[in-house]
Amino acid sequence: FCLNFPPADTLLLLLVLVPTAGCQSPSKDAPKEQSDTELLKCPSSCACSYDDYSEELNIFCSSRNLTCFPEDIPSNVKSLWLDGNNLFSVPAAAFSNLSNLDFLNLQSSQLASIEQHAFHGLKGLYHLHLERNRLKHLAPNTFLHTQNLATLSLNNNLFSKIEEDLFAGLSNLWYLNLGWNSLVVLPDKVFHHLPNLRELVLAGNKLPYLQHQIFCSLSELKELDLSRNLLKGIKLNIFVKLQKLQKLYLNHNLINAIAPRAFMGMKSLRWLDLSHNRLISLFEETFLGLLSLHVLRLSSNSITSLRPRTFKDLQFLEELQLGHNRIRSLTERTFDGLGQLEVLTLNNNQIQEIRVGAFLGLFNVAVMNLSGNCLKALPDYVFKGLTKLHSLHLENSCLSRIRPQTFSSLSCLRRLSLQHNTISVIEDQSLNELHDLLELDLKHNRLTHLSSDMFVGLNNLEYLLLSSNQLLEISHNTFNSLQRLFWLDLSNNHLETLDKNIITPLTSLRYLSIRNNSLETFSVDSLSPLPVLEQLWLEGNKWHCNCSLKELRHFSLQRPTVVPRFVQSLTEGEDSNIPVYVYNNLTCLSPPDVAGLDLREISEDHFADC
Ligand SMILES: *[C@@H]1O[C@H](CO)[C@@H](O)[C@H](O)[C@H]1NC(C)=O
Ligand SMILES: *[C@@H]1O[C@H](CO)[C@@H](O)[C@H](O)[C@H]1NC(C)=O
Ligand SMILES: *[C@@H]1O[C@H](CO)[C@@H](O)[C@H](O)[C@H]1NC(C)=O
Ligand SMILES: *[C@@H]1O[C@H](CO)[C@@H](O)[C@H](O)[C@H]1NC(C)=O
Ligand SMILES: *[C@@H]1O[C@H](CO)[C@@H](O)[C@H](O)[C@H]1NC(C)=O
Ligand SMILES: *[C@@H]1O[C@H](CO)[C@@H](O)[C@H](O)[C@H]1NC(C)=O
Repeated sequence: FCLNFPPADTLLLLLVLVPTAGCQSPSKDAPKEQSDTELLKCPSSCACSYDDYSEELNIFCSSRNLTCFPEDIPSNVKSLWLDGNNLFSVPAAAFSNLSNLDFLNLQSSQLASIEQHAFHGLKGLYHLHLERNRLKHLAPNTFLHTQNLATLSLNNNLFSKIEEDLFAGLSNLWYLNLGWNSLVVLPDKVFHHLPNLRELVLAGNKLPYLQHQIFCSLSELKELDLSRNLLKGIKLNIFVKLQKLQKLYLNHNLINAIAPRAFMGMKSLRWLDLSHNRLISLFEETFLGLLSLHVLRLSSNSITSLRPRTFKDLQFLEELQLGHNRIRSLTERTFDGLGQLEVLTLNNNQIQEIRVGAFLGLFNVAVMNLSGNCLKALPDYVFKGLTKLHSLHLENSCLSRIRPQTFSSLSCLRRLSLQHNTISVIEDQSLNELHDLLELDLKHNRLTHLSSDMFVGLNNLEYLLLSSNQLLEISHNTFNSLQRLFWLDLSNNHLETLDKNIITPLTSLRYLSIRNNSLETFSVDSLSPLPVLEQLWLEGNKWHCNCSLKELRHFSLQRPTVVPRFVQSLTEGEDSNIPVYVYNNLTCLSPPDVAGLDLREISEDHFADC
């Protein structure tokens, strides 16, 4: 049998405001009322809530334009919100009787100074928020009497240096945020008082270097954020004692050199972000010892080449980001040892040559991004062994020809991005092994015709994007295997005819665009077995509105949602109120008596003799 507690909402009493003399506040006088006990008294211009069950009093004085601290704060207060006021300074012993206080929020309160003894008496304080103020200096031992403090936020202030003994007494602290100040240097032993620290944020400062001993006492640290500083290099032994560290952020610095073995000892590290730095080269021993690393981000550096065995210790790596560097070629066994890797990004480098064997050993890679390079040619069998690959990005890569053995053995591939190349030839049998392919993007290339064998074997293909090529012709049986295809975009080509038998096999087709071609006629017969068609885009052709288009006219008038006259959408971003119209005009080019009219506007009489 369960005990019957009163419902939770009756436990929470919102108490009436009781004005007390002293602190000036611009808010109106609240009606004076005597509360049951002294302990439940709520300071003037604040709101309070009292939880009967836990006997916790919470006082909310956020954004009340307070210029001084409210007096007569009941000593049983559990949480006190003073953020968003104009307090300017915290006097000594401001909270001296509040030994039950657990949470104190003083953020965004224009604080420029805090007396050394300001926090005396806060024996139970657990969370202290001092971020987003104008603090430049705090005296040593400011937190000496708040020994239970677990989290301390000092970020977004104006500190350019801090005292070595500032954190004395904080042996229970596990979170310290010093980010977004102007710290230029840290005292050697500043963190030595913090044996239980789990997370340290130093991001957004101006630190140009790190001393050897600086982190040596932080043996419990799990996360260290040093991003967006002015660090130029990583020396040996800086992180050697951080055996429990799991995440290290060094991104957005000026790092151009990392000492070999700089990360030795970091056997728990799972995440290392070195992106947006100035690294030019990596050595065989750079990442030695990182036996637990899962994510390595090296994008947006100036790395020019990758030596074999650079990553050999990283047997658990799952993500390797190398995009936006200056890598020129990939040689054999560059990624040796990365048997667990799932994501490899190499986009926006200067890769011209990839040797066969470059990707050997990447048994588990699922996503590979090579876009934005200038590959010119891909050797046969270059992707051999990548049996788990399901997304391959080769857009914007200067490819002009696809050869039969390039994609062979990629039997799990689902998405192949080849758009924005100069591909004019896809040799026979080049795509036929891609049985699982769902999406093939070939838009913005130079294909002039599609051979009848080109898509044989692609029985699962759903999206086929062929817009902005130079297609003049599509052979009869080209789409015969594509029974699952539901999106076909042939817009912006030079098609003059589209035989009705070409479209007929596409029994799952839901979207068809043949906009911006040179078609004179279109047979609705090819659509008749297509009950699922949802959108048909026909604008921008040279429609010859004779008897052959009578059926299309009928179809368009019958199904205005399938052949819309226009679709209206809203632009994204700031001008989001300006509607954009995408038209689907069926303008007749000829014969002369109807030229310029939309097929749907022509009267029935015009087709009377058909
Ligand atoms: C605080 O002052 C601002 C500006 O004078 C005013 O707009 C706002 O209403 C005041 N807030 C309170 C809670 O009195
Ligand atoms: C703290 O409590 C004592 C005794 O109850 C009282 O005399 C003193 O004024 C209080 N101090 C503050 C800062 O409220
Ligand atoms: C691949 O890189 C290109 C170019 O930077 C980017 O636009 C695209 O989103 C990337 N794709 C993936 C899956 O990472
Ligand atoms: C069709 O061509 C016109 C003019 O060249 C262009 O503005 C429009 O974007 C093209 N339509 C599509 C769907 O690309
Ligand atoms: C209508 O015009 C098309 C395109 O010019 C032509 O192929 C077709 O034979 C014509 N149909 C009839 C019934 O005249
Ligand atoms: C399509 O028709 C609409 C309205 O009939 C017209 O405003 C628009 O300019 C036409 N668009 C094209 C590309 O012909």
